[in-house]
Amino acid sequence: MHLQDRCILLTGATGGIGRAAALQLAARGARLWLSGRREEELLALAAQIRREGGRAEVLAADLTAPGAARDLVARLRGFEVRLDMVINCAGAMHFGYFESTPPEAIEQLWRTNVLAPMQLVQAALPMLRQGGGLVVNVGSIFGSIAFPCFATYSSTKFALRGFSEALRRELSGSGVEVLYFAPRYTRTALNSGAVSDMASALAMNQDEPEAVGSALVEAIERNRKERYLGWPEKLFVRINAWFPRLVDAALRKQGQQMRPYALRQLP
Ligand SMILES: NC(=O)c1ccc[n+]([C@@H]2O[C@H](COP(=O)([O-])OP(=O)(O)OC[C@H]3O[C@@H](n4cnc5c(N)ncnc54)[C@H](OP(=O)(O)O)[C@@H]3O)[C@@H](O)[C@H]2O)c1
Repeated sequence: MHLQDRCILLTGATGGIGRAAALQLAARGARLWLSGRREEELLALAAQIRREGGRAEVLAADLTAPGAARDLVARLRGFEVRLDMVINCAGAMHFGYFESTPPEAIEQLWRTNVLAPMQLVQAALPMLRQGGGLVVNVGSIFGSIAFPCFATYSSTKFALRGFSEALRRELSGSGVEVLYFAPRYTRTALNSGAVSDMASALAMNQDEPEAVGSALVEAIERNRKERYLGWPEKLFVRINAWFPRLVDAALRKQGQQMRPYALRQLP
């Protein structure tokens, strides 16, 4: 899909990956509606995009609030434009042993990472159908390889991947396409504190948000259905699908290395 003059609703625009994607989409001529909870950050990003010759509007929202997704789409309708694309990039993460994960954190992650994208797509589909639209769901490598100490986060990204696959099949022939985009570890605020210390100590592969934003834009332009970032991560995704017991063994060792960092998360 070419991006010139495409109207795009982007959630998570205040985040590391969302912001990088916004700047690159705008530079290619797309018209953006930027969403996130922090309105001042959104306004600053929209101002930067306009200074650089792009087009961007701000639609702040807490997507976990009841009716937020429907309300967001209703506000977008007020602009009387054709909606070409929804990019579900907003996300939340929790690191630590599942046993000690607060129930509120489980609920918040499921609301942010699964329910909000599903509700947003449902509300936006009538608009997307008008012009052969695209749904982009930002998942994770953890949505294909479930990691110890990331049980809640992994489970939400598995759900998002399943939703993306079912929706792609359901919408086949309708003109609306679905892209599932799965980054690996990226240097953003999502991974602060114990997680970023652990990633450095375990020498995990790390991407910069700008590189992930570029890969997202490229996946859209190339009409990809799925895109997994990183080598050897994409190989492990296949191995995990075919030989999960092999991956159990590899992750048992990594789980032990993660232990000191997970213990730091205990209340
Ligand atoms: N960083 C990684 O290592 C990594 C790896 C794989 C996949 N991902 C996925 O990539 C996406 C972007 O992550 P990131 O690394 O850019 O994270 P980030 O920098 O922490 O940004 C998260 C974004 O989500 C928004 N958000 C969170 N809760 C929200 C809520 N209740 N309502 C509305 N917006 C909300 C935040 O906006 P406000 O704070 O303004 O509300 C922010 O824009 C996420 O889906 C994440 O799971 C990240």
